[in-house]
Amino acid sequence: MFCTFMMLEKIMKKELQNQKEILIEELIEFLKIPSISADPNYKKDVKKAAEWIKNGLIEIGCSSVQIYETEGHPVVYGEIIVSEKAPTVLVYGHYDVQPPDPIELWESPPFQPVIKKTDLHPKGAIFARGACDDKGQMLMHLKAAELLNKNNTPKNNIKFVIEGEEEVGSDHLEKFITDHKRMLQSDIILISDTGINSIENPAITTGLRGLSYMEVSVTGPNRDLHSGLYGGTVANPINILCDMIASLHDENKRVKIPGFYDQVLEISELERSKMNKNGTDENDFKASIGIQAVMGEKGFTTLDRRSIRPTLDVNGIWGGYSGEGAKTVIPSQAHAKISMRLVPNQDWQNISQLFEQHFKAIAPKGVKIEVTTHHGGNPYVTPTNSIAYNAAEKAYRDVFGVVPHAKRDGGSIPIVPMFEKVLGTKTLLMGFGLDSDAIHSPNEHYGIDNYLKGIETIALFHSYFKDLFHDQ
Ligand code: BES
Ligand code: MN
Ligand code: MN
Repeated sequence: MFCTFMMLEKIMKKELQNQKEILIEELIEFLKIPSISADPNYKKDVKKAAEWIKNGLIEIGCSSVQIYETEGHPVVYGEIIVSEKAPTVLVYGHYDVQPPDPIELWESPPFQPVIKKTDLHPKGAIFARGACDDKGQMLMHLKAAELLNKNNTPKNNIKFVIEGEEEVGSDHLEKFITDHKRMLQSDIILISDTGINSIENPAITTGLRGLSYMEVSVTGPNRDLHSGLYGGTVANPINILCDMIASLHDENKRVKIPGFYDQVLEISELERSKMNKNGTDENDFKASIGIQAVMGEKGFTTLDRRSIRPTLDVNGIWGGYSGEGAKTVIPSQAHAKISMRLVPNQDWQNISQLFEQHFKAIAPKGVKIEVTTHHGGNPYVTPTNSIAYNAAEKAYRDVFGVVPHAKRDGGSIPIVPMFEKVLGTKTLLMGFGLDSDAIHSPNEHYGIDNYLKGIETIALFHSYFKDLFHDQ
């Protein structure tokens, strides 16, 4: 059935207005399920969220809906096939969420969603764990498909792959996509799991950083020792670990692991200055996270440092005594979790290896070092001269009233480069979250305006994509 974009836009706006309350209610219901993939105590709830999505896919008119068990949490699949000739869009998202800790810092319970207004969300935002990452953003795709379906407007074949292990490294998804290559064939993969600078200045994400997540243990004496009897005579594993970690950066905050930068694709001054035109204001950035000064690799802007440069950070460190009061002790062991964010063309397995070699090499005599790799993923960049990008650009422009800029994000979605490797398909990242939405932090939220505009943008994307695809 033919329908012009103006008409589609009008229909969408009207539908969204009519359906607004229901769309919000549905997201709230979904957010009540504590699908925390990292915590085995929540396995049943993770399953419940998978069931919820399965029913959601059936309701919007999908066929072949199925929950695929994996060795970890299940993957949910469903598809809307309109015609063999129509282009196919594969939507990926995740229904699992991060643990809500520290729970005492939440102003309302993380799994009892509430709507509150904020400075950046004057029309209200839904507060709950997973509101933005990724339940709210993922649900927009189901709802956009439903609206398109209902109004019989031109659309693509849409396949949905919604997983439950993204927040713990997508360990079993590679096998799933390898086992279902045919089923997952598509012309473009579409994901909403990234962010925009603001509702006035939206962006399409063209890059993600990779990740290499390590854990290290330093072992000294065979037991915790009295620090008076032994202090000053043995290598204290915590002292040593701190020295070792401190030595991983030089005075310019460059990572000192030999070979770390070898594969890094340097970006031309021209391109960097273009990217930096759309960066957030440095003072706003500092104020938004309550710091007086930024810090990072010399010679780069804050925007560069959080998008196109690789990093190394300690995520947690422990050992010895940290209970109430004081205990005089030299610990037998010290531990740390360390993550590295990677950029094209670093390879996460190679970097993990370089880290391990280096960390072992710098250890003094008198301690034993253990290094383990948790998980990782490669960085990703996607072109801006594709049909998919052009279709997205038009859709954002229609809904937000401005042409979106391209931006590289600092976060990681390891399955994205994996999709390209296994399926040979490129990904388009259409995110709608704000940095201030506090993903992974207490009081995570997602703007209602972002949610509704997201649905509209996605629906328009499908129309533009179909048209541009047939014109090519
Ligand atoms: N959605 C995020 C990644 C993200 C957020 C990318 C904002 C770009 C902008 C995703 O759920 C996430 O948290 N990924 C993890 C990696 C994973 C292996 C745990 C990350 O980036 O730490
Ligand atoms: Mn996510
Ligand atoms: Mn996340």
